[in-house]
Amino acid sequence: MSIEGRVAGLVAVVTGAASGLGLATAMRLSEEGATVFVTDIDAPGARAAADMIGPSAQARILDVRREDDWAGLMSAVESVAGRLDILVNNAGLLRAGTIESCTLDDFRLQNAVMSEGVFLGCKHAMPLMARQGGGSIVNISSTAALQGFSAVLAYSAAKGAVRSMTKAIATHCLERNYGIRCNAVLPGHIHTNLHGETATPEQVERREHSWKPLPNGAFGSARDVAEMVLYLASPESRYVTAGEFVIDNAVTMMPARISAPTI
Ligand SMILES: NC(=O)c1ccc[n+]([C@@H]2O[C@H](COP(=O)([O-])OP(=O)(O)OC[C@H]3O[C@@H](n4cnc5c(N)ncnc54)[C@H](O)[C@@H]3O)[C@@H](O)[C@H]2O)c1
Repeated sequence: MSIEGRVAGLVAVVTGAASGLGLATAMRLSEEGATVFVTDIDAPGARAAADMIGPSAQARILDVRREDDWAGLMSAVESVAGRLDILVNNAGLLRAGTIESCTLDDFRLQNAVMSEGVFLGCKHAMPLMARQGGGSIVNISSTAALQGFSAVLAYSAAKGAVRSMTKAIATHCLERNYGIRCNAVLPGHIHTNLHGETATPEQVERREHSWKPLPNGAFGSARDVAEMVLYLASPESRYVTAGEFVIDNAVTMMPARISAPTI
């Protein structure tokens, strides 16, 4: 275990950590001294990610929709590491669909992963964190929760739930004096596999072009988000809870110049 770093000696669980924001976050936490449980529904992906990160990481299979998976993970974390300091609820997926075209199955799938999954993660991490006197939960929402993109109705709904659930959990922990902080991160458009299913290369090109006026471009990197998660996970943010942190290069603030995605 590293004895130096911004989260040195702390123990973290990151969901959806086989790729994208979750992988970048697991890597940053590990670089700064944390022991990281790299969890994902994608078993080979989780193992490859843990191998890449090194000995401070270990892979666990976790479908965030399954309560028994969460219970098993928490038992394993407690018996292997003895504590849990950081939970990053990151797992997600995107299915395009408007209020007219989105099926009930697609609505339920996205809300099961991104709303119920966050609910279950917070619920199962809380007893362990409360018992040891504190911890930090970081929930990955999205600017879709602020803007309500018409083309991704169910995704927007799930991310809105994450935003409000985060505040309810944070205030509950304050009322109970658990010492657990809970914050939400709202990324804009970040280069990952998430958009693979819904955006054609032409759509990505069009979006990049329409956002050209912005310095630094339309898409951020996974690392941009990981740096914010690291701050919220670390003791540096000890006075920060029930917050929401937008990482979008001001795209949300400039609706007249930038239209919502048409995918
Ligand atoms: N990329 C963006 O532009 C963007 C913007 C805002 C928010 N987000 C959010 O960031 C999070 C990470 O997305 P990403 O962009 O890195 O995408 P990604 O597709 O690269 O990673 C998502 C990961 O979640 C895993 N996953 C999916 N369903 C799961 C389940 N039921 N249980 C456990 N793991 C599951 C996948 O296997 C994958 O490894 C998501 O919550 C996403 O909504 C992404």
